[in-house]
Amino acid sequence: MKYRLMINGEEREVEVDSGTPLLWVLRDELGLTGTKYSCGVAQCGACTVHLDGKPVRSCVTPMRNLKKREVTTIEGVEGLVADAVRESWETIQVPQCGYCQSGQIMTAIALLESQSDPEDEEIDAALTGNICRCATYPRIRRAVHEAAAKVRS
Ligand code: FES
Ligand code: FES
Repeated sequence: MKYRLMINGEEREVEVDSGTPLLWVLRDELGLTGTKYSCGVAQCGACTVHLDGKPVRSCVTPMRNLKKREVTTIEGVEGLVADAVRESWETIQVPQCGYCQSGQIMTAIALLESQSDPEDEEIDAALTGNICRCATYPRIRRAVHEAAAKVRS
């Protein structure tokens, strides 16, 4: 079946089965490999993208649910909050192996878009589904606070 999607602000057309997960389309059909595959069952957050601005697990989001929806991936996310988050991630050197980090960043951006001054508990709650094998959690928390301060200033 043919699907027309808005991905990172551009209209893209793909031909896939209706049950194909968005993650497969992003990585295999469109070459957007910044979004990672890990558990495949909505348990780790590595595949997080934004759907109409909200974080979703693309590994369990079938194409049939995506008509007239806007998808944003790590390659296309932009704006004040996204810039602040990227900058803080770099300053604080959050990533270790890096595998989980695009998912962490997409979730952090969505959090700061809805809450500009989150407490530690809110950061932990928002990011709780994003697993990091390298346990970068304390640095993620610091980077979110720093990005929030930057956005507010
Ligand atoms: S790969 Fe989607 S949540 Fe783990
Ligand atoms: S930085 Fe290695 S899994 Fe998170």
